[in-house]
Amino acid sequence: MADLSNPKEEVKKAADIIEVIGQYVQLKKRGQNYIGLCPFHSERSPSFTVNQDKQIYHCFGCGRGGDVFTFWMEYHNLSFPQSLKDLAERYNIPLPRDRDSFAERKKTELKELLYKINDLAGSYFHNILVKSDNGRPGRDYFSGRHLSQETISAFRLGYAIRKWDGLINYLGSKNISLDIGAKAGLLAPKKGGGYYDRFRDRIIFPIFDLNHQIIGFGGRILDDSLPKYINSPETPIYHKGNCLYGLDSAFKNIRERGLAIIVEGYMDMLVLRQHGISNVVATLGTALTSDQIRRLKGYTKDVVVLFDPDDPGREAALKSFPLFLNEGVSAKVLVLPGGEDPDSFVNRYGSEKFKELLKGAAPIFDFYMDQALAHMDIGVDGKIKILGEVLPIFMDVEQEATRSLYVHRFSEKTGINEAIVQEGLRHKTNASQLKDRFYSAQDLRKYGSDLQFLNLLVHYPERIDHFRDQEWELIVSDPEIVKIIRVLMEKFTLEGKLDRIEEFLDSPVAKEQFRVMLMSKPFYAEELVSQAVREFEEKIARVKISKSIRKASSEGDIEMLNRLIKAKQDLELDSKRT
Ligand code: CTP
Ligand code: MN
Repeated sequence: MADLSNPKEEVKKAADIIEVIGQYVQLKKRGQNYIGLCPFHSERSPSFTVNQDKQIYHCFGCGRGGDVFTFWMEYHNLSFPQSLKDLAERYNIPLPRDRDSFAERKKTELKELLYKINDLAGSYFHNILVKSDNGRPGRDYFSGRHLSQETISAFRLGYAIRKWDGLINYLGSKNISLDIGAKAGLLAPKKGGGYYDRFRDRIIFPIFDLNHQIIGFGGRILDDSLPKYINSPETPIYHKGNCLYGLDSAFKNIRERGLAIIVEGYMDMLVLRQHGISNVVATLGTALTSDQIRRLKGYTKDVVVLFDPDDPGREAALKSFPLFLNEGVSAKVLVLPGGEDPDSFVNRYGSEKFKELLKGAAPIFDFYMDQALAHMDIGVDGKIKILGEVLPIFMDVEQEATRSLYVHRFSEKTGINEAIVQEGLRHKTNASQLKDRFYSAQDLRKYGSDLQFLNLLVHYPERIDHFRDQEWELIVSDPEIVKIIRVLMEKFTLEGKLDRIEEFLDSPVAKEQFRVMLMSKPFYAEELVSQAVREFEEKIARVKISKSIRKASSEGDIEMLNRLIKAKQDLELDSKRT
């Protein structure tokens, strides 16, 4: 029997420090201690040490240390009372009621009543389903969906009859106040006063906490009418955002296998379980939260999420991406073929096939990118859209190094210059600003190479010097533009600035071209200028070689020709690499 007067000691006895820390840090036995890489500072060789006899840990690298509570507090960034609660819940140690305030006591009492009434209601729904004549629609429904008797009893599934006062009458017979039924979300208030059953003619999925107590319910309609699901509202004991359906019966398995599978629906979780896949939990249709991820993280750092291969699925994947990253959980995504959800998939193809697919799950970032790139035209607009979606996600990634890594991979996959992404991150650039930036990229194509070069020199005249002694005329085909550039070079060399250029241009065409470039925004963002300069330079070199090749070939100078062709190939390789 636990000693309620000293819960801290009780929890400490039950929550072995090696076991607790071992879930977050890979520990290896080394002499009397266990060692691993410190989770509080980054290091390459392990200096984080845990001692089982003393139930303490210490990092010789950063100096942090303490007992199992300190670890929990620091690792999860929680207060001591919350850490005590978490660990107590995990190890099934009952905590004494909070004695310090009347309000606290009231709260605890209410919570206990809610657990009790949920338990009663759970049994009521379950008994109807398995025993009563009234339960036939529910039984038929479940058998149509291939749920076994064992699954039905293991998860205490139920059926709510088609009446407004079925549960109400039952609670009345047990002398339970209907107000509490309403607080539990089981009853809903009538307009003129009084209550009615919230769940009617629905099959019932009770939702359990880690201590196997019912905290809420989901109810599914038997046919195609809407709403398909009705769920308990938030109550003092039910917070959708931090609960995972089935975690109470899955966590041991998740820990053993080192992998958690996350699905969306009640039925998905149940049917997978029935097929022997026991390390699975469900989010109940909502977006994953960091609370949910943190809960799972205590059991494994590897997660496979099943998202739908549609826009909401892609969006959900994207939203959860920084959450996983920031929690240090490695998430993969599995999309089942043929638009099947896990439930229909295993019923059709069996669990072996499912397990096979599981092995091929893609890292969440790759999944997102593949989806995004497959579903958008990869033109400028498509890219702006992806970038617009991805920037806030990258901003949410807390670690600089991780962020850069993903920015790099993102650029690789989209062809969007890394500098633009970085710039977007630095200045929290919004989508429309990005659009400007990108449209200049589109202008690039629209205007062609001559004007690109002119635009570069007009907006970044300090780069003029760089080209003065090169045969830049080779890459400018429009004679009017050649004229303009010559004037630019002369004026800039003489005056160190570009002033009254138009006066020195003799043709109206040249004057106009120049004005257009002066008014247009720079095609190259500042951080791209060096790259642009380099590219023009390479272009000059290439044209030069081609010219020489033509010359050598017309003169029949084979040796020269070979040398030039080789040089040209090298140049092309170089420019591909940059
Ligand atoms: N959900 C909900 N309310 C809705 C729709 C869905 O709470 N109106 C939640 C449920 O937890 C549901 C999950 O989101 O299980 C996934 O939704 P969906 O894919 O529509 O339902 P399925 O679980 O596939 O239900 P079924 O297989 O019975 O059609
Ligand atoms: Mn389904």
